[in-house]
Amino acid sequence: MLWNETCFQLLNQTKLPGKLEYISCSDYKVVADAIKRLEVRGAPAIGAAAAFALVLGARQIQDKQGDFLSNLLIIAQELRETRPTAVNLFWAIDRMLSVASRYKTGDNISHIIDDLEKEAIAIANEDKDVNRRMSEHGATLFNTPCAVLTHCNAGALATVAFGTALGVIREAWSQKKITRVYADETRPLLQGARLTAWELKQEDIPVTLITDNMAGWVMKQGMVQAVIVGADRIALNGDVANKIGTYSVAVLAKEHGIPFYVAAPISTFDFNIKSGEDIPIEERDADEVTSLAGVRIAPEGVDVFNPAFDVTPNELVSAIITEYGVLRAPYFDQIVNLKNRMKGE
Ligand code: MRU
Repeated sequence: MLWNETCFQLLNQTKLPGKLEYISCSDYKVVADAIKRLEVRGAPAIGAAAAFALVLGARQIQDKQGDFLSNLLIIAQELRETRPTAVNLFWAIDRMLSVASRYKTGDNISHIIDDLEKEAIAIANEDKDVNRRMSEHGATLFNTPCAVLTHCNAGALATVAFGTALGVIREAWSQKKITRVYADETRPLLQGARLTAWELKQEDIPVTLITDNMAGWVMKQGMVQAVIVGADRIALNGDVANKIGTYSVAVLAKEHGIPFYVAAPISTFDFNIKSGEDIPIEERDADEVTSLAGVRIAPEGVDVFNPAFDVTPNELVSAIITEYGVLRAPYFDQIVNLKNRMKGE
């Protein structure tokens, strides 16, 4: 994503890998629609996009009748309703609103908007830094050269830069610790085939694309030695919500004695929920399942279940890689420590 004084641009991820097309946003509603349509997607990326959307929205309401902060809260609510699972969205919106709430009715609105812009830029810049730090911690988990499997896209596209799981992979590959990446295609919307394969090919990192139902056989054949994925929300007990299909991969990894790693920044932890049972799981349109690349593949009228995420129980998670280091089970106390550390910073 690109931000400058006059415009906010988002790379339209639904057009990849065929076309590099940018969406120019000067209206916060354009960003909200882009989040709903997955034109911008991935937990940290939607958080940063929502932060910039609030700056655009603030500019749009600065001359509007009524109380500025009340109008900003209405925009924030619209942005909150775009997608329910990735907690980074709510984290970024709350952070922006806490900046706005320092001001009182009657204060100079242009100063509030300047501060909101600074905060959105800080959120974006911090994400880049956090991903680098997480990648360095994650690379320490790999000692001998090995192949890894990943699911969905947790790369530069899903973040502001570098990526979470793909950030670790990039770093470990540059240290010659990872030799090849097996990318699950990730039905229904194919983030693995369209985005992860594209990102890795850009950098000549060896990637082999497989359909989701091949993961078990690839493990059985000894073709991968670790799994690494990103996350959309992590509960206090270490339960992890991520793209639908992640849970199946974790079960398969356990069966084959392969470590299952999750890479996620602190903005992906939900310190308010005790377990994955409290994570809201987005359900999306049936069309995503009944069609493939716009072509209908199922009979008209068939019943469809289309959860966009699942929850992997903490006992299947070998380690959680954060920008502060690597967490190992039991997770609860370490995640509470992280929460306390955040309060202190
Ligand atoms: O529906 P999506 O494409 O937004 O889902 C994205 C994922 O599940 C990613 O794995 C997750 O956000 C981690 S991104 C660094």
